[in-house]
Amino acid sequence: MTTYVNTIKTKPFDGQKPGTSGLRKKVTVFQQPHYLENFVQSIFDALGGVAGKALVLGGDGRYHNRQAVQVILKMAAASGAAKVIVGQGGILSTPAASCVIRKYQTFGGIILSASHNPGGPDGDFGIKYNIDNGGPAPEKITDAIYACTLSITEYQIADAADHDIDTVGSGELAGMTVEVIDSVADYAELMQELFDFAAIRRWFAAGHRMRFDGLSAVSGPYATHILEGLLGAPAGTVVNGVPLEDFGGHHPDPNPAHATELIDCMNAADAPDFGAASDGDADRNMIVGRNLVVTPSDSLAIIAANATLVPGYARGVAGVARSMPTSCAVDRVAKALGIPCFETPTGWKFFGNLLDAGLATLCGEESYGTGSDHVREKDGVWAVLFWLNLLAATNKSVTQLVEAHWAQFGRNYYSRHDYEGIDTDAANGLMAALREKIKTLIGTTLAGKTVQLADDFAYDDPVDGSHSGKQGVRVVFADGSRVVYRLSGTGTEGATLRVYLERFEADPARHALDTQLALADLIALSHELAGIKQHTGRETPTVVT
Ligand code: G1P
Ligand code: ZN
Repeated sequence: MTTYVNTIKTKPFDGQKPGTSGLRKKVTVFQQPHYLENFVQSIFDALGGVAGKALVLGGDGRYHNRQAVQVILKMAAASGAAKVIVGQGGILSTPAASCVIRKYQTFGGIILSASHNPGGPDGDFGIKYNIDNGGPAPEKITDAIYACTLSITEYQIADAADHDIDTVGSGELAGMTVEVIDSVADYAELMQELFDFAAIRRWFAAGHRMRFDGLSAVSGPYATHILEGLLGAPAGTVVNGVPLEDFGGHHPDPNPAHATELIDCMNAADAPDFGAASDGDADRNMIVGRNLVVTPSDSLAIIAANATLVPGYARGVAGVARSMPTSCAVDRVAKALGIPCFETPTGWKFFGNLLDAGLATLCGEESYGTGSDHVREKDGVWAVLFWLNLLAATNKSVTQLVEAHWAQFGRNYYSRHDYEGIDTDAANGLMAALREKIKTLIGTTLAGKTVQLADDFAYDDPVDGSHSGKQGVRVVFADGSRVVYRLSGTGTEGATLRVYLERFEADPARHALDTQLALADLIALSHELAGIKQHTGRETPTVVT
C-alpha cells in the first residue's frame, strides 16, 4: 500500500504554552483548524522526532477525545513512529497511561485530558506529553515544545482512513503499528501487585459498604472492574461509573464543593463505611468517612504513617515529597520515621526526579493528588485502594484512623480558598504587589503573629539541579501557621488566585474545631496582606476546599 504524507503549511498560534499540566484550552479553541496539529508537531519536533519510536496514546474520554486520537495517530504515522499503543475507545486514565508507558517501555506518551476541568462542547480539552519514565515532561521539554509552537511553519499528517480504536488488537495505519489495548487490564494487574486484595475482599464480604463516585469521568471502568469485579464489592458500589463526553454535567473535580452527591450520601444516617471519588482523568482522589472528608494533606500523612501495613510498601518508605502549598502534616510523619521530606513546586512533574532516584516513595498535593513510585502520575484509584487496604488491615473506620493520627502527630488545620475567573491583570498586579511587600515582612507582627519567613518559593531540584523560581508567595509565622498565594496554571478563563491556609494544633482537646473557624484569624489576615478586595473586587472566594 502506498502511504501518502501530507505536509500542511501552518502558522503559530499564540498561547500554546503548557501550564501546570500540559496545554489546556476550551474545546472550541482546540477545534480551530491546525490548532491541535501545531501542538502535536511541536511535541514531536521538540523531542527530535519520533521516527522508529513507540508511543502510548489515550485520554479521559471527554468531548473531542476521539477526534484528537485519530489526528495524533495519523501524525505519528506521518512522523515515522513505529508503533502507538492506544487505549480501547481512546480511553486511558492518566495513571493508567503512566503505567502502560512504563510497562511497555515506550519512548513516551500523549495524554488527552483537561483533568478536573468540565468537559463537553463548551468545556475544556487538554493535551500533555509524558516521558519514558511515565511522568509529565519536565520543564526543559515543555519549554522546548512551546518554543517550537512559536516558530512552526508546517506539519505532517498521513492521508489515511480513521483507525478502528474500539476493537482490541494489533493493526496498521499508514505503515505504523497501532495496538489497541484493554484500557484497564495493565493497571488492574499493577494494583494487584501492590495491595492485599484478599484482605480487602474479606472486608467487603464482612458486609462493609463503600460508595465510589466516578463523576461520569474516566475512573469508572477502572473502579468498576477492580472494586465490583476483583474485590467483590456489591454491584452499585460504583456510581456515575460510565465515562461520558460531558461528564454528565458533573464538574469532575473530587472535592467537597463539587462532589456534593457523595458528601450528602456520606453525611446521611445510613452512610456507607467509606466514600471516594476521582476526577476527569482519574489521577485525583477524595477520601471520605462518615461525616468526615479527609483533607488530601492528612491523607498523604496517614498513608505515609501506615504504609508498611500495605504489602507493596512493607519494605518501608524511603522518603516523602509534597508540593509547597500542601500542609506540613506529612513532614511530622517523616520526622518520626527518620526519612527525608521534600518540598517541591506545585505540579506532579516535580516529583518525577525524586521518584526516579529512589529519594521519595510517596508524594502528594493538597489538590486531591496522592501517589507513589508505582507510576509517575498521581493516582486516584490507587489512593482509594490504599485506604481500603488500611481499613481492612486495621479493622478501624476512616474517622478512627484520622483521629488516632491527629492524636499522635497533631492536627494541621488546612483550607484552600480559590478566587476563580478574576481579571488577569488584576491577579498579576496582586502578586506583584505581594512580592514587593514580602521584602520587608520578616520580623514584623501581623494580627499578633510574628513573620518568620516570607519569600517567593524557589526550588532547586536535588537530582538534576534545575531551578524553578516564582512558585508562590509564602508567609510563615513563628507558630508554624502559613498563608501561601499563587496563581493557577491550569485554568482557562481569566486568572484564578489560590490562597492556602494552614495552622498546626498539637492539643487533642482542640482537634474537633470547624476548619474555617480554626483558620478565621489567618483568613482575615490573608485578605488584608494581599489586598484581595482592592485588587480583584472580590470579598469572598468562589470555591473553598
Ligand atoms: C492544579 C493543582 C495542582 C495540580 C494541578 C494538576 O494546578 O493546584 O496541585 O498538580 O492542578 O492536577 P494549578 O491550577 O493550581 O496550577
Ligand atoms: Zn486530573
